[in-house]
Amino acid sequence: MYPPNTRSNREAVENVTIKGYTIPKGAEVTVPIYALHYNPEFWEEPEKFNPERFLPKEKEKRHPYCYLPFGHGPRNCIGMRFAQLETKMALVNILQNFRVRRTSETEVNKVMNVGERERKYDPIEFDNTSGGILRPKNPVMVTLEPRYTVVEDIEYHSGHCFRKLYEK
Ligand code: HEM
Repeated sequence: MYPPNTRSNREAVENVTIKGYTIPKGAEVTVPIYALHYNPEFWEEPEKFNPERFLPKEKEKRHPYCYLPFGHGPRNCIGMRFAQLETKMALVNILQNFRVRRTSETEVNKVMNVGERERKYDPIEFDNTSGGILRPKNPVMVTLEPRYTVVEDIEYHSGHCFRKLYEK
């Protein structure tokens, strides 16, 4: 939902005509990644957080270019697999140990600053001065509340030490 790169550019190496539009050699073409991700032509309720839309059977129904967080083709992101692995490891570590809660310091807006389009599900206002990199205008402040109470109850089995953790 939040592609860090909101667009990707290519330069035409030769004159090319696609669907009646001629792109002259040397012209820069911008692929609007963010706009594609929120286009209701490709996504039902695009502003709704709905991970099920990435199930294999749902993905089959879409053109692969509808979702381009890491770009596409021979010059797509070289760090994609590393970034995805790193993100999952960080998220799992944080979410296993903490409950993340938004604090009242986080400003919640009803209207986005891009085209003044009303957003039903996502109230974060974006900084539109950051040259294609997506970031919130104001910081998103959260607290991390530990999920577990650590107790002194330590057990030893087969030479390994287990610390008992109880969910709060
Ligand atoms: C969430 C993390 C990341 C996102 C969303 C992201 C996204 C992107 C996007 C959209 C592009 C342009 C692709 C295109 O135009 O088709 C790109 C290019 C690139 N990314 Fe990433 N990236 C991420 C992390 C990384 C990491 C961790 C590395 C390196 C370890 C990396 C290295 C590169 C490089 C070198 C390119 C240029 C590739 C080329 O021009 O051939 N990226 N990335």
